[in-house]
Amino acid sequence: MNDVLHAIRKRRSVRKFTGEPVPESSLRVILEAGRWAPSGLNNQPWKFVVITDATTRTAVAEKTKYRKVLEHAPLQIAVFLDQILSYDRTKDIQAIGACIQNMLLAAHSLGLGTVWMGEILNRREEVEGLLAVPASFELMGVIAAGHPYRKPADSERRALDELIFKRY
Ligand SMILES: Cc1cc2nc3c(=O)[nH]c(=O)nc-3n(C[C@H](O)[C@H](O)[C@H](O)COP(=O)(O)O)c2cc1C
Repeated sequence: MNDVLHAIRKRRSVRKFTGEPVPESSLRVILEAGRWAPSGLNNQPWKFVVITDATTRTAVAEKTKYRKVLEHAPLQIAVFLDQILSYDRTKDIQAIGACIQNMLLAAHSLGLGTVWMGEILNRREEVEGLLAVPASFELMGVIAAGHPYRKPADSERRALDELIFKRY
């Protein structure tokens, strides 16, 4: 398996972190990986809010039932769709998914753990208000990141045979 395939296969959601901060150089690598995601018409509709400050991390964490996971992550990256840059809602959201996945894989490649938090979208507008983003920014998810507290358990996927509906 080459490095890319290995990262895709071995990345797991990490929900418990040591307190150790994420180095600025690693944050940069993660955001760069997001920046290089594909997007329709190369419109790059994503915007990021980086949260390391403890007070803000706790305030964001309070917006989800996964509070414990988020508040103990030394780094949170809130990912937004900037509607000013949007040209096709479906494709823009797909591009944001690619962007987030790129960041998860980049973090994994650096030995960091992440989890993609979606439940927080139930209180999307409250998070947008808390982070004081422009009205055109729509929250798409929050990445919690840090050094894994322990090696995560392996995960499961449906068998490939179940996924390939037909071949012509
Ligand atoms: C769109 C999306 C939303 C998710 N939301 C949450 C969440 O709110 N809380 C959480 O603990 N995990 C969340 N996850 C992580 C999934 O639970 C996880 O990716 C899945 O169980 C597979 O496990 P793995 O990432 O370890 O392979 C989310 C993942 C995606 C792609």
